[in-house]
Amino acid sequence: MKQFLRTAISVLALGLAWSLAAIASPDTLRVLSIANSFGEDAVEQNLHEIALADGHVMIIGNLFIGGCSIEQHDRNARKGAKAYSYRKVSADGSFSVREKVKLSQALLDEPWDVVVVQQASHDSGKMQTYEPYLTLLLSYVKARTPAGVRLCIHQTWSYEEGATHWAFPDYGSSSYGMYEKLCEAYSAAAARHHLDVIPSGTAIQNARATFLRHQLSRDGYHLSRQLGRYVAAATYYAALYGCKVEGNSWVHPHLDSARMTLAQRCADAAVKNPFKVTRVDDSGFWAKYDSIPEYTLPNPLVMQDGTPVSTPEQWYGSRRKELLGMFSREMFGYAPAAPEVSGEVIEEGSAFGGKALRRQVDIHLSGKRVIHLLVYTPADAKGPIPVFLGINFKGNLTVTDDPAVLEAANWASYGIYPREARGSQSSRWPISEIIVRGYGVATFHCSDIDPDYDDGGRNGVVSMVYREGQTYPEPDQWGTIAQWAWGLSRALDYLETDDRVDASRVAVFGHSRLGKTALWAGAQDERFAMVIFNDSGCGGAALSRRRFGETVAAINARFPHWFCDNFKKYSDKEDELPFDQHELLACVAPRPLYVASAEEDSWADPVGERLALQEAASVYRFLGESPALLGYHIRQGRHDITLEDWLHYLDFADYHFGRR
Ligand code: GCU
Repeated sequence: MKQFLRTAISVLALGLAWSLAAIASPDTLRVLSIANSFGEDAVEQNLHEIALADGHVMIIGNLFIGGCSIEQHDRNARKGAKAYSYRKVSADGSFSVREKVKLSQALLDEPWDVVVVQQASHDSGKMQTYEPYLTLLLSYVKARTPAGVRLCIHQTWSYEEGATHWAFPDYGSSSYGMYEKLCEAYSAAAARHHLDVIPSGTAIQNARATFLRHQLSRDGYHLSRQLGRYVAAATYYAALYGCKVEGNSWVHPHLDSARMTLAQRCADAAVKNPFKVTRVDDSGFWAKYDSIPEYTLPNPLVMQDGTPVSTPEQWYGSRRKELLGMFSREMFGYAPAAPEVSGEVIEEGSAFGGKALRRQVDIHLSGKRVIHLLVYTPADAKGPIPVFLGINFKGNLTVTDDPAVLEAANWASYGIYPREARGSQSSRWPISEIIVRGYGVATFHCSDIDPDYDDGGRNGVVSMVYREGQTYPEPDQWGTIAQWAWGLSRALDYLETDDRVDASRVAVFGHSRLGKTALWAGAQDERFAMVIFNDSGCGGAALSRRRFGETVAAINARFPHWFCDNFKKYSDKEDELPFDQHELLACVAPRPLYVASAEEDSWADPVGERLALQEAASVYRFLGESPALLGYHIRQGRHDITLEDWLHYLDFADYHFGRR
């Protein structure tokens, strides 16, 4: 009965919609899609609105059966099966659904200008599944549509990396592999039947190469309701009308203009190159260098309940803990307790012309994971020496030309890193100068802990603590930066056991994203005797409330894996953050802390970095600590870590580690 009522209502609604369709004009474009859920994603929403914004009226029909292949459409046609859910967007934009419709009925429902067919996603890359069914289906369509009807093929998209679709293994579970296959099959079908291509699959693939990549799908194969569907509809529009969609004035209620413009560019590029991925530039989208909004920074010396902090004991005993708790919950995510750590020295030798001793150590984390730590210490050291500990971006062998540095087994195992040349990062690691000044250096590759991309934590240490069945970190569970910071503490666990190292004088340092990491590691783990962060920017030293250069929205959109999901709620809502970065800097007190910036590094907001340090200084003062504990410089030039930066750090370390 219920079903009957629903059908009756749909039929009524359809009747109503058809009468309103009277507003259709001679220019109205009537498009019928013979499809499945991928067609539903592409045409049932957004498309009508996009066209209308450019003054085009469309009537859109969609013949829907979930997962329907060309073979099945052909069978339905020949059998006259009342098998379809026939969805229709009328000229006035109203939407209606009629169930149990035959293909022939829908074909005769309007004088269609365009009919679009597509393959089921699971068969899309299998050429042998198209024929003879496509030939038969197209002749069935032609026989029931006006002469001159334009026939098109809608290129569906490949599944997302990690998708659990049953057919994914047929494509080696490779997103790009599936894309290549479906390009082959669709382009052959299009050429054979002279079909115009609607290249949604390529548009989605283009978008996967931008910061939109993790927002395109809702389950690994269907499109996300907002962004993914918008990309497909924009592609449909540009392909049907043969015009650019960039600049289209329709405003999607749930997408910001940066995402929409980028989506439009991905669509336009796909229409231009339907079977080839185009790198659509996404830089500059988030750059914000206009005025600084008015803002009020939270007072580090007032507890969340309004109680003023009046003694150092209160700071260390309550406020600092409260702040670290909030930064954990709302920004970086909680990390678990330390696992059992054991170091295994796998190689030792002399380096830098005999000036240094090299030690390569596998740090085993509860037997489940290994950090490959590379340690250099001065050969002439009389006893345990102070050490700089920092993570490297591209592998231990990139930090120096030393031929004995081992290539870690997991060097390129995560699929996204090009192999980097030995020593390619050595300008950032002036190891010989550091050694000559009497310090050691210890480093490991960030991928040892978590490769730097949004894989739902699958390849990171976070997965070691997933519950059964868990595939994504909880909203307050550690993101990539918190995992890296945790890795730094595990490296320190090992250094505490290394006889060449004075673990009470370990300076944790990092550049850029790894500078944010050093700050978070140093703020929490009081064993780090000094904390240095270079060009750390948003999420590091820069004040979030200034919204200059990289904003919270920008960092969350482009690097959704760095912080925990709770942090996403502060995108464009910086004033609602219960803290700002100066309070994180203050958590390092009473230890020495160093902020460094570069003049041309506007993206990292050097002014915001300095202001945060000045604000943190008030806490050091309140605690009765010397201003000499706070180091700062801004050098000329770009975002980088250079010998000049290092010479400042070495001087600072000399001063505080009692070497000068
Ligand atoms: C990007 C990112 C910054 C980050 C930097 C880096 O520019 O937006 O937040 O600091 O990469 O790590 O090099």
